[in-house]
Amino acid sequence: MVTRRKFLKILGGGVILAATGITGFVTTRTPEKALAPWQPGEYTDPRKAALSYAVLAPNPHNRQPWLIELIEDDKVRIHRDPDRDLPETDPFHRQLFIGLGAFIETMVLAAGAQGSSVDLSLLPGGDDGPVAEATFSAGGRSDPLALQILKRHSNKQPYTAQKLSQAQIAVLGEFATLYVAEDEVARIREMTIRAFEIEMMTPRTLKESVDLMRIGKAEINRNPDGIELRDPLLEAFRLTGLLTEELLLDTSHSANKAQLKGYYHMLEATPHYAVLTSATNTRSDQLHTGRRLMRLYLKTTEMGIGLHPVSQALQEYAEMEKEYTLAHRLLAPQGHTVQMLVRLGFGSNPIATPRWPLETRIMNDV
Ligand SMILES: Cc1cc2nc3c(=O)[nH]c(=O)nc-3n(C[C@H](O)[C@H](O)[C@H](O)COP(=O)(O)O)c2cc1C
Repeated sequence: MVTRRKFLKILGGGVILAATGITGFVTTRTPEKALAPWQPGEYTDPRKAALSYAVLAPNPHNRQPWLIELIEDDKVRIHRDPDRDLPETDPFHRQLFIGLGAFIETMVLAAGAQGSSVDLSLLPGGDDGPVAEATFSAGGRSDPLALQILKRHSNKQPYTAQKLSQAQIAVLGEFATLYVAEDEVARIREMTIRAFEIEMMTPRTLKESVDLMRIGKAEINRNPDGIELRDPLLEAFRLTGLLTEELLLDTSHSANKAQLKGYYHMLEATPHYAVLTSATNTRSDQLHTGRRLMRLYLKTTEMGIGLHPVSQALQEYAEMEKEYTLAHRLLAPQGHTVQMLVRLGFGSNPIATPRWPLETRIMNDV
């Protein structure tokens, strides 16, 4: 029997991280219901068949900011769900629009693979209306990248020291700007660590993350979005009432310090970065960046390379200004906007993250 005192001692000692090794328990704690969308069902409606893949797109803080309107029997209108904003870390919704762009690209790729062609109109009513309108018809071209949609996951592990080969750099160079020189990589790495620390030490941005944490199987299955923490020991602490919001917000607590140390270690273990920029920073640029990001993710998945966005230095709030300026000086000296900064490298296999089922994102099922 573990006493409350002993629990607190474990919590204080930062042993939490080690608990990920309890594999037997982890298996039983897998939130299967939240992961079910990764096995899309059979749909007779080609729009739903493609959209059931689109909901698997990467998106900031896994907010899944899309809402789908089905129109007549061949059209789809995609909206941004204003209830899924990130006001502190994404005040201008730039990152949410990138996620919506990734959703659109996934829909188009899946439709092509399923024999449908999509006539796409982005921002049909301007910036304040729907994000996109798509008309489906028979035909379509299958892109090999579509084969990777169900295998694609962000890889948030520490990467090994293995570097990309020259051939891999050449291939990925078609999809993004790569940073491979050791001195440049070191400068970016240090910036990502400082920027992450700022996000954690700024109470309102930390709270935005804490509010989105789903800890343990039941919480994740109930709310299959946000930041999922599957660690069974954290779940045990949560269930016994020890892991409170107050504790998660206390950055001086030794358990949080240990978690942060683990995160810094992961950020350190990064051999390369890739960057997506745009000359201007319109909604259309952001959607286009999301489409490019999805293709980069799928290409790296095909090549067995890990990809992990590290967005903190690109976020538009006062406390981040210094790192934001540095990020732009380092990564877009010609005055462009840095839309995405991602780690690239080799790590252990990433896991699938939760998704709301397609049906819950359709506004008007017909
Ligand atoms: C615009 C954008 C910004 C992101 N920024 C971060 C980030 O700063 N840190 C991070 O760990 N993941 C980041 N991600 C990855 C998301 O957390 C991830 O896509 C989401 O949790 C779903 O997981 P999946 O990609 O494995 O399906 C970002 C994704 C997008 C599209």
